[in-house]
Amino acid sequence: MSANVPFALIGGGTMAEALIKGLTSRGVYQPAEILVSDPQASRLVFLASTYGVQTTLDNRQCLAARTILLAVKPTQLPAVLHEVGAHWPADTLGISIVAGARLQDFREHFAVEPPLVRTMPNTGCTVGMGITAIAGNDRCSEEHLARAHQIFESVGEAVDLPEHYFDAVTGLSGSGPAYVTLIIEALIEAGVQQGLPRRVSRDLVCQTVAGAALLVKQSGKHPAELKDQVVTPAGTTAAGLQVLEEAAVRATFCLAVKAATLRSRELGEEAHR
Ligand SMILES: NC(=O)c1ccc[n+]([C@@H]2O[C@H](COP(=O)([O-])OP(=O)(O)OC[C@H]3O[C@@H](n4cnc5c(N)ncnc54)[C@H](OP(=O)(O)O)[C@@H]3O)[C@@H](O)[C@H]2O)c1
Repeated sequence: MSANVPFALIGGGTMAEALIKGLTSRGVYQPAEILVSDPQASRLVFLASTYGVQTTLDNRQCLAARTILLAVKPTQLPAVLHEVGAHWPADTLGISIVAGARLQDFREHFAVEPPLVRTMPNTGCTVGMGITAIAGNDRCSEEHLARAHQIFESVGEAVDLPEHYFDAVTGLSGSGPAYVTLIIEALIEAGVQQGLPRRVSRDLVCQTVAGAALLVKQSGKHPAELKDQVVTPAGTTAAGLQVLEEAAVRATFCLAVKAATLRSRELGEEAHR
């Protein structure tokens, strides 16, 4: 096992696996150029045998990499930083996907603050359709940010955003896959209630949701304009939309994103008290 790799991940869970898959399939890194550290030996065996990456039980081996991605749970981060922070080379790029961990919270753990990038990806990354917000600290150069972009664009899209937007990003696209899957679940059930076989209803709904998202994205048109195109006066869609408007679905989504954004802020503050 060699620790001389360009890219290392501390934490080998769900998000780490999504990134390994994207990076190796897109050829950003060869499998042998990736080192993964995790406390579970069985998990490391799985990652090594499935993707051909190098593995270690020792987080400090990751410190030889040019870029280190922190992919542990928020509660696990302080212990990891305590372990590796003091030995972190000043020019090694650190990338965190840890929800709620602010750039300023990393500072105290390093002898010399390295270039750091905070990101907020979402579960779409596991199918190559993620969206990741990216913010760098003052030590980040254009090249560091480009490196972060290349990593997250291997599993979807990436967007530069000032860090003060991260709670809103968490409330919108971080939690978003759950909102949309709730809609999908409800629509599948609605189709079944109208007599459609469950499998058919599922296929109809999934493709409708995916197609509508792509249409909004590719057309560049306002969603309301696209909606109006399918609303025949006194027709079927108009009847369905009226029910949704009466149920204040639009306002309810605003409240849901607001609640998630506030909760993200609260969790961030609690973690650093
Ligand atoms: N999943 C998402 O959609 C999503 C979206 C945005 C951001 N994030 C962020 O991504 C991070 C990872 O999420 P995840 O879903 O991939 O979590 P996960 O599947 O639980 O992965 C975390 C991995 O880190 C390992 N670990 C625990 N302590 C460690 C240590 N001291 N050193 C090295 N590895 C350690 C865990 O092992 P054990 O299982 O043995 O503890 C686990 O394999 C989280 O901070 C989360 O906030 C996730």
